[in-house]
Amino acid sequence: KILILDFGSQYTQLVARRVREADVYCEIYAWDAPEAAIREFAPVGVILSGGPESVTIDDGPRIPPVVIELSVPLLGICYGMQAMAAQLGGGVETSAQREFGYARVRARGHSRLLTDIQDHINEQGHGLLDVWMSHGDRVTRLPDGFKSIAETDGAPLAGMADDERGYYGLQFHPEVTHTKQGSRILERFVRDICATTGTWRSADIIADQIERVRAQVGEGRVLLGLSGGVDSSVTAALLHEAIGDRLVCVFVDNGLLRLGEADQVMATFAQHMGVNVVAVNAEQRFLERLAGVTDPEVKRKAIGNTFIDVFEEKAAELEGIEWLAQGTIYPDVIESAGAATGKAHVIKSHHNVGGLPEAMKLKLVEPLRELFKDEVRAIGLELGLPRDMIMRHPFPGPGLGVRILGEVHKAYADKLRAADAIFIQNLRDADLYDQVSQAFAVYLPVASVGVMGDGRRYEHVIALRAVETIDFMTARWAHLPYDFLDDVSRRIINGVDGISRVVYDISGKPPATIEWE
Ligand code: XMP
Repeated sequence: KILILDFGSQYTQLVARRVREADVYCEIYAWDAPEAAIREFAPVGVILSGGPESVTIDDGPRIPPVVIELSVPLLGICYGMQAMAAQLGGGVETSAQREFGYARVRARGHSRLLTDIQDHINEQGHGLLDVWMSHGDRVTRLPDGFKSIAETDGAPLAGMADDERGYYGLQFHPEVTHTKQGSRILERFVRDICATTGTWRSADIIADQIERVRAQVGEGRVLLGLSGGVDSSVTAALLHEAIGDRLVCVFVDNGLLRLGEADQVMATFAQHMGVNVVAVNAEQRFLERLAGVTDPEVKRKAIGNTFIDVFEEKAAELEGIEWLAQGTIYPDVIESAGAATGKAHVIKSHHNVGGLPEAMKLKLVEPLRELFKDEVRAIGLELGLPRDMIMRHPFPGPGLGVRILGEVHKAYADKLRAADAIFIQNLRDADLYDQVSQAFAVYLPVASVGVMGDGRRYEHVIALRAVETIDFMTARWAHLPYDFLDDVSRRIINGVDGISRVVYDISGKPPATIEWE
């Protein structure tokens, strides 16, 4: 396994993802993590991340001595390379000339890290790499034992190697996709240079987690709030595999779910997989709680709090529960910790479990805590969950509550469910569902005039939203074909009573958010 020491780069998480994609297990620790923790982790190689600081200042982050004492291969990226150079006896200077963005690197000489990896070959036979650079400092003198392996016009020492010790430094960022050969370079380091076998595969992850869960909970019973989303579904499937009937899931139908969703969750987990699921129909209670509430933030809180009330009541009826399971995944851990420190133990403030049953004094079990979303999906498929469920677009905790603008009424929710199902089914039929990141319908309780047959209609509007995004922080509206939109619009107006107009949302994020509330 590989240790990634974080010096505060915004890309540290990407390094971890690339390493996992090479089927090698890794974890991120803060650069000042306790020495004992690093020794206990016993990495076979260490990657030193980039970072915002300058190694030329006195009290900047340092490579802890234990990392050198471990005598394992090291790869320093950007700040990591500079820190290696500075601490191993080389020289680093703050350069007036900052390099940022695309750069073309010329490979120099032979090294185990870069040889035979290139985008182009120039007339002199040197390999050329298209890379992403972002740095102010640069290495000006190599430490003993190192040779230069890459150069750019701005940085004559853009890469360094000591093949003997397996020490490498790169001034550019191999973890970002703009560095086209970046994944190969990282794979070369973690697989070949660190001599790992690449066994971090779904089947192994499952076997490993099952063993750990069994060791952790012993004969105890575990409670899980099942939402039907990817993370809680995979958590349920994994725990069921590990402890069978000692897992009790509570599924709350809040009346704000998508068409057929409650039935689907029960069919998959209770009927098909034999998971112990307690279903609670709380539609009435949620609707009553939402009556007269129009402000989006107040609605969110009302839904979240009602959820907790219902969940707690149900949990209190169950006897002998010692553990609470959560579908926390690695990005949640990193995000909650503020930075990629890996040592903080923060509970995900998820809508489903926002305020845990305090009085129950449950201990936490989080089997997906070390996994990225794509790994969670892969093990979900391996555990036999339906592909449709695993590849589903994200759905917000407050559900349709934030897709019905203003006050929520059951009649609106029913119409929205029908319209949304038409939109989604048509996306699937046209093979467009997997091409967009998220798609849904929104209910606009604004009356607009229409004409159907010979009659005048004065009815509500459905807005359709579909976006493409990688991280959901920014998004582009999906350029769905006009003919497709035309078809969906017709089907919704003909098929959903009380809707006489359909519009398509053509706003990007920013400035608009993905959800309307
Ligand atoms: P926005 O609307 O902020 O949404 O652009 C970004 C992503 O987050 C989802 N979302 C939520 N998920 N609870 C959730 O679990 C929420 O309250 C919530 N609000 C937004 C949204 O669907 C999109 O994927």
